[in-house]
Amino acid sequence: MAIQKVGVIGCGLMGSGIVQVAAQAGFDVRVREVSDEFLTKGLGRIDKFLQGGVDKGKMTAEQKAQVLSKIAGTTKLEDMKDRDLVIEAAIENIAAKHEVFAALDAVCGPNAIFASNTSSLSITEMAAKTKRPARLVGLHFFNPVPLMTLVEVVRTPMTDEAVLADVTAFAQKIGKTVVSAQDTPGFVVNRLLVPFLLDAIRVLESGVASREDIDEGMKRGCGHPMGPLTLLDFVGLDTTYYIANIMFDEFKEPRFAPPPLLKKMVLAGWHGKKSGRGFYEYAK
Ligand SMILES: NC(=O)c1ccc[n+]([C@@H]2O[C@H](COP(=O)([O-])OP(=O)(O)OC[C@H]3O[C@@H](n4cnc5c(N)ncnc54)[C@H](O)[C@@H]3O)[C@@H](O)[C@H]2O)c1
Repeated sequence: MAIQKVGVIGCGLMGSGIVQVAAQAGFDVRVREVSDEFLTKGLGRIDKFLQGGVDKGKMTAEQKAQVLSKIAGTTKLEDMKDRDLVIEAAIENIAAKHEVFAALDAVCGPNAIFASNTSSLSITEMAAKTKRPARLVGLHFFNPVPLMTLVEVVRTPMTDEAVLADVTAFAQKIGKTVVSAQDTPGFVVNRLLVPFLLDAIRVLESGVASREDIDEGMKRGCGHPMGPLTLLDFVGLDTTYYIANIMFDEFKEPRFAPPPLLKKMVLAGWHGKKSGRGFYEYAK
């Protein structure tokens, strides 16, 4: 089956990026948010990113308009009924994901493929709860989606090989390089990255060095494009906190346990760049 019509659930940090890259590749994209307010905010993020491209001379105003014409926003889940592929990019919470897929199961055609952009939750558990366990896979994008070229395609023991081939072809059409992984919390990249990020918080927490020195050390000493505390602010501290808890629950290894400082910051509403404050402060 050739995927033509794409649906995205959630127009937050990740959902808006997925919508944008799919539209830029020429797919007909429909995105669902919980309210008009969130929808306007998410679509505004896409507009701003594309306008940046126009301002830098990377695309014309006509090309920007062409991309935007491929995108439709909605707050109704029923509007996903004609989609070939629906990618869920809502909050990192298993109950919320089950709710989304149950609702999609009821409105989408039997051949529609479902994918979750989860960073750490069980794809197998999500798939098993639907009426189409062979047609739900992981499609794990990286932030910022328009700039990061990797997608992890995640299979469960039930996944249909033809579905894997279809989503892999889709990911390649939107310009991404695919890495295949078995379903396990964190897949490949986060399994390695999350303990490193949590350790950076522990280093700060124990007073070894300042936030700036930790970031500068990893940039200049290891050639990382940004330091771990800056990266955490970009990923979102709330999202990282959910992921760490899920990975700790699964593996029971202390290196996956969220440090108390992370929990405190999340409770304080310091969720990183998107909230204006994380390890650093950001102008709103
Ligand atoms: N932030 C990252 O770097 C990153 C990277 C890869 C994967 N992910 C995963 O992507 C998912 C989304 O993360 P994010 O960073 O975009 O979060 P976010 O908080 O920026 O966005 C989530 C959006 O989903 C919306 N939403 C919640 N329930 C919904 C529903 N039922 N229908 C439609 N919209 C709904 C919210 O209103 C919000 O706008 C999570 O599962 C996260 O683990 C995040």
